[in-house]
Amino acid sequence: MGRNTSLSELYHENSKLHSHEIRSWLYQRSLTCLEHTSLKSFMKRSAKSYKLYASAPQIQLPDLPAQKKHTDLWHTMSSRRSVRDYSSENLQLNDISTILFHGYGETGKLNFGKYFLALRATPSTGALYPLDIYPLVCGVTGLESGLYHYNVRDHVLEFLQQGNFLEQLVPAIQSTNNEWLKQAKVVLFITATFFRNQMKYGDRGYRGILLDAGHLSQNLLLAATGLNLAACPIMGCMDDQINDFLEIDGVEESVLYAISLGHSAIDPKR
Ligand SMILES: Cc1cc2nc3c(=O)[nH]c(=O)nc-3n(C[C@H](O)[C@H](O)[C@H](O)COP(=O)(O)O)c2cc1C
Repeated sequence: MGRNTSLSELYHENSKLHSHEIRSWLYQRSLTCLEHTSLKSFMKRSAKSYKLYASAPQIQLPDLPAQKKHTDLWHTMSSRRSVRDYSSENLQLNDISTILFHGYGETGKLNFGKYFLALRATPSTGALYPLDIYPLVCGVTGLESGLYHYNVRDHVLEFLQQGNFLEQLVPAIQSTNNEWLKQAKVVLFITATFFRNQMKYGDRGYRGILLDAGHLSQNLLLAATGLNLAACPIMGCMDDQINDFLEIDGVEESVLYAISLGHSAIDPKR
């Protein structure tokens, strides 16, 4: 074949699923650690599919039932837009709590004898939940500016670094046409810890991880829209600059996506 094959085509071809390769509870070609792992110990491992910063100070997020507004799903879905024009108004802790919970919060359980998987607001390949959310806060009433991590298990924020980082980080989040981003009140960084999925799904799992990130992001965007907030998904991140900022290695765990949040500067009544 006289043409150059792109990496994406090679990857797609090589991660296609074929019926002769499917094993009882895992589908991948090469031997992995799971060949020697019982289903029971696999379930035990995957029931803990979250990251914790055990020594970081924790900020309790407000209870959810107290601040659920009635929101029309169909209106929310049809009115979502990528909004890049934010007012100076701060977000509230309630807003962050609602958005994070409806993005990746625990909403159900799947029992396996002694073990259970905690199911989340968004679907995930094999219920393995390889993603994490790091909110960069620069305008939330009652919350110090800085970098946080969303602890899914306890629905709390873990405080990782105090400071006003947004302005210096903007070029790493979106390198051009980025003045608008300086007005955002929160940027949610979504990272993947690949092994949490790939221990079961191998190379094909990489597809699942990206699909998971799309599901999660849409939930975050719709939750923001439902609260009348403005949000924009951003893929233009300089991966390793953001990874360095998050103090993750970019190999085991790496940033995939970002979402900016604020109040819209555009008056809906105009
Ligand atoms: C995967 C993905 C990546 C995107 N990355 C960026 C980005 O880096 N910067 C940006 O300003 N908008 C980004 N967007 C927003 C798109 O430009 C936007 O969704 C599109 O123009 C459609 O407009 P709408 O979202 O308002 O319907 C991204 C959207 C998606 C789905």
